Amino acid sequence: MRNGYVWSLVLIACSGLFLLSGCQAPQKAEPVRPVKIADGEVDPAEWGKVYPVNYDMWKQTADPTAVGKSKYKRGFDADGITYDKLSEFPYMALLFNGWGFGVEYNEPRGHAYMLKDQVIIDSSRVGAGGVCLTCKTPYAPALEKEKGLVYYSSSWAEVRAMIPEKHQELGVACIDCHDNKDMTLKLSREFTLGKALAELKVDRSKVTHQEMRSLVCAQCHVTYNINKDENKKSVGVYFPWQGSSWGNIPVENIIKQIRGDETVREWTQKVTGYRMPFMRHAEFELFSFNSVHWQAGVSCVDCHMPYTKVGAVKVSDHRVMSPLKNDMKACQQCHTETPEWLRNQVFAIQDRTISMMIRSGYATATAAKLIEKAHQLREAGKEIDNGLYEQAKDFYMEAFLRTLYIGGENSTGFHNPTEAMRILGDSTAFAMKAEALLRQALTKAGENVPMVVDLELDNYLNERGKKKLMTQPGVEIADPFGVEAKLRQVQPAK
Ligand code: HEC
Ligand code: HEC
Ligand code: HEC
Ligand code: HEC
Repeated sequence: MRNGYVWSLVLIACSGLFLLSGCQAPQKAEPVRPVKIADGEVDPAEWGKVYPVNYDMWKQTADPTAVGKSKYKRGFDADGITYDKLSEFPYMALLFNGWGFGVEYNEPRGHAYMLKDQVIIDSSRVGAGGVCLTCKTPYAPALEKEKGLVYYSSSWAEVRAMIPEKHQELGVACIDCHDNKDMTLKLSREFTLGKALAELKVDRSKVTHQEMRSLVCAQCHVTYNINKDENKKSVGVYFPWQGSSWGNIPVENIIKQIRGDETVREWTQKVTGYRMPFMRHAEFELFSFNSVHWQAGVSCVDCHMPYTKVGAVKVSDHRVMSPLKNDMKACQQCHTETPEWLRNQVFAIQDRTISMMIRSGYATATAAKLIEKAHQLREAGKEIDNGLYEQAKDFYMEAFLRTLYIGGENSTGFHNPTEAMRILGDSTAFAMKAEALLRQALTKAGENVPMVVDLELDNYLNERGKKKLMTQPGVEIADPFGVEAKLRQVQPAK
């Protein structure tokens, strides 16, 4: 395992591209005087009696975040607008049509909302049942242990009702990241992350303090699969890290695992009729796969919970949020450039990522529409070349899963810019190959396929259950360089 020699690397980096402030490690938080909290105490208010400063900052994750400071992760602002991904990226409405993600899919917001947002979101999004609470409530580890299969397969509402009433809206709590005895960092989710680290063959006794500063986040900020039984009931959850190792979880290994496991086909994609797996917010996987910052020993916490002064004490900022919304203070612990310069670096990376992401997304959506056409022809009794069709289907799945991986990862490419571009380039290549094969198969069947395939996006955007909104107010379709609009010869909606 790598050691987190962050500060020695930062010293070396001084001679490089960046001048790092005086080449000193940011001053750590003052050591706390540990007071033992009662075993099993979940209530943050109790922990807050001993650590009031951290508790107050933790509560601030409920506050609206600054408008205009972040370009793609606007979260929700003081006007209460929650940004909706399907409006920003309409191709997603086509690709996800068939289950909850195609009905309502919002940008994330503060930790205080994680369980509340499940209460208010379209109920189709919690259709998988109690298993959906795995990353939302501090009671999940205990419920999983006590209830076993019942935890996974009961409805979301039934399992939520097993949480003590006053905590039925409580999100990530002190006990999820801290040991109650001495406040050191501790993993609470052995049944998910613990098992996944065993898959990576990580020797838990050798995990460094700096690595723990990423692993506490990796309890939730990862992709996961939900296992289904024959009746489509949820029976388990796991991280698809088989065949990978520490610092080396390539998207190819993840795809291999989830395509090879028939029990994780969680939903039916309407346009193709395929039973599909899914991928989620793989922040830890993307970041830890050879990114510049990971190689330099930087942790999630360095950027999302920077040291900060509150009155006379120095603490880790427990108002976990985007560093952009916090005026790049986290970056300035190591970088001496101005906040404007740093922000522009982030935007430049994100604009490029988005441009490639929508290219891969629309290319995948185009292939999906041609698969739909092939199915319609088959139903009408026409013969579709099976060799061409099967090859196209395989490439389509590869394209879909890659665009999904980067689309769900929450940094819009920043956590690992070059890797994100590689994955999106591969997604686009697979999608375009699938399109070419399908065009060949359709032509062979006597069909005349137009140059620009009509994606009928309005239909998908309007087929959204109770959330029948074409686009949400204030949300523009993302297309930073206008290339996709030119390729598709459609005007982005106003
Ligand atoms: C128990 C699961 C869990 C853990 C542990 C966790 N998160 Fe989160 N995090 C979430 C969920 C769920 C959301 C989305 C909440 C919503 O939108 O309602 C989220 C949202 C966020 C956001 C977006 C905040 C905003 O204002 O939009 C950031 C940044 C973040 N997490 C970083 C981290 C970091 C860094 C760590 C580790 C120190 C961490 N998280 C640990 C589950 C978790
Ligand atoms: C070098 C700094 C850095 C590191 C390390 C880092 N992030 Fe980020 N993260 C960012 C930036 C920059 C963004 C983009 C924020 C934006 O666009 O507003 C971001 C975005 C996010 C978001 C979405 C925030 C939002 O407001 O919606 C989440 C969640 C997140 N990171 C979690 C993590 C996790 C988990 C890790 C560790 C596995 C991690 N980050 C490591 C800098 C970092
Ligand atoms: C998402 C994970 C997470 C949650 C939830 C969380 N903390 Fe922390 N906390 C951290 C991390 C990471 C550190 C930095 C520890 C380190 O580097 O040793 C930290 C540090 C601390 C420290 C040491 C001083 C400091 O600020 O660095 C205290 C005290 C503390 N947390 C209290 C709390 C309390 C009280 C709560 C609940 C209200 C809480 N924490 C919730 C992750 C978390
Ligand atoms: C804990 C220290 C640390 C923090 C915090 C940190 N960085 Fe870095 N960053 C580094 C180091 C070290 C390098 C590698 C420098 C080199 O090779 O010259 C680096 C490289 C970079 C690069 C060039 C490589 C790339 O991936 O494109 C950019 C851009 C960058 N950082 C921006 C940021 C931004 C923006 C933030 C805040 C969101 C941030 N950094 C936070 C230490 C840090």
